[in-house]
Amino acid sequence: MAEGIPDRTVDAVLRGGADWLARRGVDQPRIACELLLARLLARPRLSLHLIGDQTLDDRRLEAMRRGLRRVAADEPVQYVTGQAEFMGHVFATDKRALIPRPETEVLVREVLACAPLWQDKTPAIVDAGTGSGCIVLSLALERPAAHYIGLDISPDAVALAQENRQALGAQDRVALAEGELADTVEPGMLDALVSNPPYIPTSVWETLPAHIREHEPRLALDGGPDGLAVLEQMVQDATFALKPQGRLFLEIGYDQGPRVRALCEEAGFADIVVAPDLAGRDRVVHARWPG
Ligand SMILES: C[S@@+](CC[C@H](N)C(=O)[O-])C[C@H]1O[C@@H](n2cnc3c(N)ncnc32)[C@H](O)[C@@H]1O
Repeated sequence: MAEGIPDRTVDAVLRGGADWLARRGVDQPRIACELLLARLLARPRLSLHLIGDQTLDDRRLEAMRRGLRRVAADEPVQYVTGQAEFMGHVFATDKRALIPRPETEVLVREVLACAPLWQDKTPAIVDAGTGSGCIVLSLALERPAAHYIGLDISPDAVALAQENRQALGAQDRVALAEGELADTVEPGMLDALVSNPPYIPTSVWETLPAHIREHEPRLALDGGPDGLAVLEQMVQDATFALKPQGRLFLEIGYDQGPRVRALCEEAGFADIVVAPDLAGRDRVVHARWPG
């Protein structure tokens, strides 16, 4: 397919491209093809079937071949297309930050569903480890009146988040800064701390598929020997940064619920809830700081 295309209709390119990627061991080859072609044709992925017999011109066909070769060489398709959808918005994505994941939408929805947090019309909310900015910008687009800060220790990630903030028109609602929570926030200042920190144990990170391990930033994924190094830091930081009745929201690994619950209990948090993702696995910890 990438070398010689028998038929250049959308249907044939999708079929041929998916077969070609499947033979090279790419996971979910059809979806990868659809994402590449949707980007090339500037139309929604799910509408491609409506133009199945439309033909591709030489330029797009060659661009499709280049994209397929990059995906076959293990580059994540979202880095090839330069974008990913999250909470209904399109975020620019590249190797400077983690690709937004669907399970992180569970974290955002948990924050949005926390009624006491939104009783104050202008709560102060920090997203620590903002990466592409997908969490803090999605919250700001949904609830524009709050005060938001997105932080990251990676200057590359902050630069990408700034580009996304600009593209999504949220410059006046979200501050972005390089650094850790303790460097940036005064004690007792926050109504909520939200974070999807790196939480994969180093030994597991070493076994991740090449399209993740060799392309996405290690700083975004590797949570130290037991995966809990940054999660533990976030729990500790939250105890000084949150106001009384402030909220902590953390994304966690599917097997970390009991340990993160215990960390929150030891730190003095109350009303600790471990919420599942769509697959029913532990994914988010939500806790209240009694103050
Ligand atoms: C799992 S990624 C999450 C990115 C983005 N929030 C998302 O959900 O797609 C974790 C991010 O935390 C950043 N990070 C790691 N340790 C940190 C720390 N101690 N303080 C702030 N950011 C940190 C990494 O650079 C990375 O961008």
